[in-house]
Formats: sequence, structure tokens, C-alpha cells
Amino acid sequence: MICENITTKNGHLHFNNFDVVDLAKKYGTPLYLMDENRIRKNVHAYKEALNKYFGDSALTLYASKACSFMYIYKIMMEENIGIDVVSSGELYTAEKSDFDLSKAYFHSNNKTDEDIRYGIEKNIGYFVVDNIEEALVIEKICGDLNKEQKILLRVTPGIDTHTYEADKTGKIDSKFGTAIETGQALTLVGEILKLKHVRLYGFHCHVGSQVFEEDVYERTSKIMIKFFSQVKETYNFETLEYDIGGGLGVRYVDDDPSFNLDTKIKILATCIKEECKKYNLNVPSFRIEPGRSIVADAGMTLYTVGTIKKIPGYKNYVSIDGGMTDNPRFALYGARYSCFLANKMNNLCNFKADLVGRCCESGDIIAKDIMFPSDVSRYDIVAVATTGAYNYSMASNYNRLPRPSIVMLKDDKDFLVVKRESLDDIIANDII
Ligand code: LLP
Repeated sequence: MICENITTKNGHLHFNNFDVVDLAKKYGTPLYLMDENRIRKNVHAYKEALNKYFGDSALTLYASKACSFMYIYKIMMEENIGIDVVSSGELYTAEKSDFDLSKAYFHSNNKTDEDIRYGIEKNIGYFVVDNIEEALVIEKICGDLNKEQKILLRVTPGIDTHTYEADKTGKIDSKFGTAIETGQALTLVGEILKLKHVRLYGFHCHVGSQVFEEDVYERTSKIMIKFFSQVKETYNFETLEYDIGGGLGVRYVDDDPSFNLDTKIKILATCIKEECKKYNLNVPSFRIEPGRSIVADAGMTLYTVGTIKKIPGYKNYVSIDGGMTDNPRFALYGARYSCFLANKMNNLCNFKADLVGRCCESGDIIAKDIMFPSDVSRYDIVAVATTGAYNYSMASNYNRLPRPSIVMLKDDKDFLVVKRESLDDIIANDII
């Protein structure tokens, strides 16, 4: 199985030891499941590796864009890690979950004045500043409120990762951050150090998402630490925090690679320490911002099969009661998923079909060329694995489809953490 929390018993698919066919019956479909034990296990893996190789000043920040709802911030709070938010909406959700906002880092290449004011008023830990305009707004609002604000500066190291085009963020021509190579980042540091209310603590970069390349974080760190040394030489400013962003890849299908997180962090920590030594710098406190690798394999989506269309000599379609509205990742990136007919797990899979949604669009595909049992039929339950990241958080109401509920699975308990949208929710903001 693609992940160890997925098993088969009595012909039914199980997720974190729950029979998913029973869960589909109990809660209806489409349905997002989330395995809390797995989320915590993934968080522990980061916490332990960071502690072991970087010491107790290091902090994991959950990149909450991957999956944001109140209960998830509660988990992160209990786990005593930080979060990355990119909008007032994510910040508000965290605040309402009683998350300690001093451990929140506010990203975005274009924060509005309202975002900035809201963050400052809520005493957010850090802004990850993208550009001078933003720094000046922080300076102005902090001046009005007589406050000081900690910031990191987001820079682009000029690293091109092998991932989906939309997931690349570290290249010089990216819309994110300020480029090191053009000299703009160094100039910007000078401008920021002149501000009275803005306190620069260090630097952030993020090279991409769903990244598997062996040495990409070390190559990035070499560029970043050389930059820290230039900053020190030019301004006598010592970098206190280094935030390397997120991006570690997860396995969606059997031929995706896997890696050992502990080994990866160990190699990275060794590289960072060596580079700092080379430039005679203190090793900054380390931050990492995983999103996908915390929640992706803790998620699964259940659907009920509707129409089955066979076009002899051409292709077949299995249609389900959700689609690109709850999982737009195939439509956006051609992303691949492992899919199962959850109530017929012992049947031979020899019927090839595309798994498609119910939206009015041919691009409404969840996965192509999936092998189903030949007796796949209406009312069967389809399970799509590894949907915990960037599914619910990117869901939409296209065709006015209500968004599914989320059920959390913890030990032997299953409980709702997000309600299914109703038809009344769909028209809630309409005015006639
Ligand atoms: N930090 C920053 C600044 C980011 O921009 C991101 C992701 C992360 C951390 C977390 O990256 P992760 O560990 O989740 O890879 N919607 C796309 C992914 C977009 C990622 C955006 N930034 C997808 O579904 O593949």
C-alpha cells in the first residue's frame, strides 16, 4: 500500500484501522478523512530530527495553506510547533483556535494593509517580508501603534527545482521574494535596517513544493549562508534565524521515491554548520515549514460511484459524486493519485477507466487510467489516498457544489471537524 495507515480487511479498505465503507455510510460522501495519529507522527518526525541535529532553538512551522481548519491548529498548538499563514483568513482561523500567534509567521508576496494591521494588532510573531513596500507599511502601522515587529526577509536564492511549474518558487524570476543574484536582496537589507519599528531577525527562502531532489536544500543553504556573510560584511548584521521554507515531497503513487527524514535533516544540518564555519558565522536558529509532508498522507477522500460509461474501442469513465471541486490537483498540475474501490478490495482489477467528477467540464478528472474491478457499479465506494494536502484548502463551489465534511480519525474515535456545506451555505452571501 502507498502508505502504512492503509490496509485491507475482509475485502474492505481500512484507513487508520477504520473500515472506510462504514465511514462513507455513516457520514455520506464525498467525504474527507484525516488520520490524526498520522498527522502527529509526521510532526514528531520533524520535531525529533530538528531537535537532534539543530538543537532546541530550532522550530518546525506547519505551512497551514496545505490544510487549514480550526482543529488542525489545535493539534499544532498541542504539539508546540509554529505555523505559517498567508492571509488574514488563515490567521483568523488560527486565532479562533486559540493558537499562540507569537509562533505564527505571516507570508505572502502581496500582503494588504489590512493583513498587516491585523497581524500587528494580534501580536503575530513574525512577518516574512517580501519587498520594501510591505516593510514600509509595517513601519508605518507599528509607528502609529508604538510597537516593534520582528521580521524575516524572503529572498530568492536562484534555485530551479524539478517539480510542477506552478510549484517552483526559488527561481530569480519568481514573483516571491527578492533576488540575491541581482544584488537587490543586499540593498533591501540596508533599507530595512534603517527602519525604526521593524526588527530584522534573519532570512527566509522557499525553493518549491513536492521536491525530491537529493541535494537541493544543501545547494540552497550554501547560497543563503554566503549571502548571510555578505550581509554581515556589509552591515555588520548577524543572521539570527534561517528559515528554509517547506517543500519535501510525499508519495502519491507507487513509483514516487521515498526518503528518510532523519537522514535528510542530518545531512542538511551538517552542511549548514560547515558553511557557517567557513564564513565564521554563528549558526542561526533553524526553521522549516512543511505543509504537504505533515498532512498529505494523513488524508483520504471517499466518493460514491454514479455513472459508468463504456465507449468500446475508446475508453471508460467511472464518475463519482465529487470532483475538481474537492480535488483540483489533476486539473491544475496533472497530479497523480492512488485510487481504490473500497468495498471490493479482493476483486481482480482488470477494468481500466478514468476517474472523473460531476462538474460541467471535461478537465474534471481525479485520476486517469485507474484499474477497477470489472464489476464496478453504482453505489460502490471509491477511496483516493494521500489527499490531506492542497485538496480541502483548494476546494471550490464550482457548479455550486457544497464542500464535503472532514472527519478526524483518532485512536478508535471518528468525529466531525468540518461540517458538510449545505445548500443554504451555498446561497448564504447572495442578495436578491
Ligand atoms: N513555505 C512557503 C513559503 C510556501 O510557499 C509553501 C508552499 C510551503 C512552505 C509548504 O510547502 P509544502 O511543504 O507543502 O510543499 N497547491 C500546490 C502546492 C503549492 C505550494 C505553495 N507553497 C499543490 O497542490 O501541489
